[in-house]
Amino acid sequence: MLEIAVITVSDRASRGEYEDLSGSKIIELIKQSGLETNISPCVVPDEKDEIKRALLENVGKDYIITTGGTGISPRDITPDVTEEICEKSIPGISEMLRAESLKETKFAVFSRGYCGILKNTIIVNFPGSVKAVTLCTNLMIPLLEHGIKMMYGGKH
Ligand code: MTE
Repeated sequence: MLEIAVITVSDRASRGEYEDLSGSKIIELIKQSGLETNISPCVVPDEKDEIKRALLENVGKDYIITTGGTGISPRDITPDVTEEICEKSIPGISEMLRAESLKETKFAVFSRGYCGILKNTIIVNFPGSVKAVTLCTNLMIPLLEHGIKMMYGGKH
């Protein structure tokens, strides 16, 4: 059973100005994948302290997937907060997500998504749009179980 937290980072979604479609899409796709998972969602504004608190509250789960706040506007700080708390980075994951996203839109160059490990939790940043999370979730699903085995020292 994979324990996964999905954190939507969005000022407007946190104020209830729009529905959290991206977080819901990530959950829907993972559930449809047939993986045995326990997924808990939350929504926070683009505020350093709130993002940090949400990340730290979910350390201990296998994965934390964030969506939103990866861009270059003044309030986009999700990757910076994630990097600050992580102990190791997994650049291959963020490189893959960006490279595949670039095939979808050249604007993917503006997504600064980070991936790293804190304790035994892998944290992955996805961009904020439903289109982006659909692509990124489908790329991650086949890697989820193997990633956890490797993190605990498993062999190929
Ligand atoms: N990646 C994919 N796969 N699909 C997309 O539509 N949008 C891009 C980029 N990455 C996009 C994508 C755009 S337009 C932006 S501004 C950045 O993600 C940052 O988005 P965020 O700030 O919502 O995280």
